[in-house]
Amino acid sequence: MKKYLFVANWKLNGSIEFISNYFKFFNTSSEIGLEKNIIVIAPPAIYLNEVYKNIHSMNIFLGAQNVDKNLTGAFTGETSILMLKDIGVKYVIVGHSERRLLHNENNDLIIKKFDLIKSLNLIPILCVGETEKEKKHGQTKIVIEEQLNCVLTALGTSAFRNTVIAYEPVWAIGTGLSADPKYVQCIHKFIRNYIEKYDPISAKNIFIQYGGSINSVNAEEFIKQPDINGLLIGSASLDYQEFLKIIELSK
Ligand code: PGA
Repeated sequence: MKKYLFVANWKLNGSIEFISNYFKFFNTSSEIGLEKNIIVIAPPAIYLNEVYKNIHSMNIFLGAQNVDKNLTGAFTGETSILMLKDIGVKYVIVGHSERRLLHNENNDLIIKKFDLIKSLNLIPILCVGETEKEKKHGQTKIVIEEQLNCVLTALGTSAFRNTVIAYEPVWAIGTGLSADPKYVQCIHKFIRNYIEKYDPISAKNIFIQYGGSINSVNAEEFIKQPDINGLLIGSASLDYQEFLKIIELSK
């Protein structure tokens, strides 16, 4: 039976009250027949601990949306990977397009963060994907290959062990315009084949997720595809009932 990884990326949303309401039913509901899946909740950093206190299920893990490249020191406003690990974080999103575009994160910085996350034995969720312009110019695979190459060149052929890749076409994020599931399957296969060239074991085991305007209506077509191992969900994950509906499609 296929095992999926569902990640709820709450972005800059949530409150203490929201978390309390969310988890009233979420813990028990997410377990019904779904133990085989991994569920990750990634709230804003300030609410990580609050979410952690509310998780009472073996298959739900805590995720962070970002991490600093430094471990400790005079870096006002930042969050260290040591701190994330200290409070129970297991997964960390890195290279999300909103950070690449709105916070000027380049591949060098992303590699540093990716490496740090792995060195502390946490699991990076590395986001890759093309912009609308790049897609129009037929550059999708070139862009993704470059994003993966940087990691591989810097960290070696075992770089993708114990990692997650999230294919998130920039044009599909938060637009209501999800990509075509067949197109996504094709890109996921391309990513898996790329990894296979260097590390066949990782290629077989790695979770490759799709993210971009997923909801309970379109999710099923995606998870049916052989190389789609999960979903990274933004706005639809803010409604716990909608998120549960998506998870339940994997039954
Ligand atoms: P969306 O966001 O589901 O709201 O499109 C996905 C993401 O950015 O991870």
